Amino acid sequence: MDSLSTPWVAVAAVLLLSACTPDGERAAEDKPVAEYRTILGMRDLMHQVLEPAAEVIWDSAGYDITAAGEKNLAPTTDAGWERVADAAAVVMESANLLMLPGRSREGGWNEISAGLADAGLAARAAAESRNDEALFSAGARVYRVCVACHQIYWIRPQ
Ligand code: HEC
Repeated sequence: MDSLSTPWVAVAAVLLLSACTPDGERAAEDKPVAEYRTILGMRDLMHQVLEPAAEVIWDSAGYDITAAGEKNLAPTTDAGWERVADAAAVVMESANLLMLPGRSREGGWNEISAGLADAGLAARAAAESRNDEALFSAGARVYRVCVACHQIYWIRPQ
């Protein structure tokens, strides 16, 4: 069907030309089809994605000190360590979710978020090497990043 294809090429060329404004700017129809879908608001992103993942790390790091003595909270099985590594990966990648257009804010937001990626990466490495002390300090680092951002951007209701 070669004879039919020629007019379609011509039509396509006309459409392409008409999508350009005289000064070469792209018209609205020419924008990429895919857009970011930042569906969760900041509250839900915190409650449903970031906080549950961070809590897996915190619940697995440090010591539970009671009258009965100290209990190391570090995982004792491979599956336990893998669960922490998975959660750390979520914390790490959440940094990118925070930096997406539609979520990112003015000021130090993206730098703080990058710090969250680094802290998550450290927690993941600690879990992968089954290092409970490194996991504890990475967990503390994650916590400091949460606080750093909240101090600037979260105006709590009285
Ligand atoms: C880059 C900034 C940023 C980082 C990093 C961040 N948060 Fe948040 N967080 C916010 C903002 C902004 C709010 C306020 C959301 C709102 O109510 O509009 C918030 C609110 C929250 C809330 C309360 C939501 C509510 O209103 O009920 C929780 C829980 C929370 N964050 C957990 C965390 C945890 C856990 C971490 C670290 C692992 C963290 N956040 C890191 C920006 C951040």
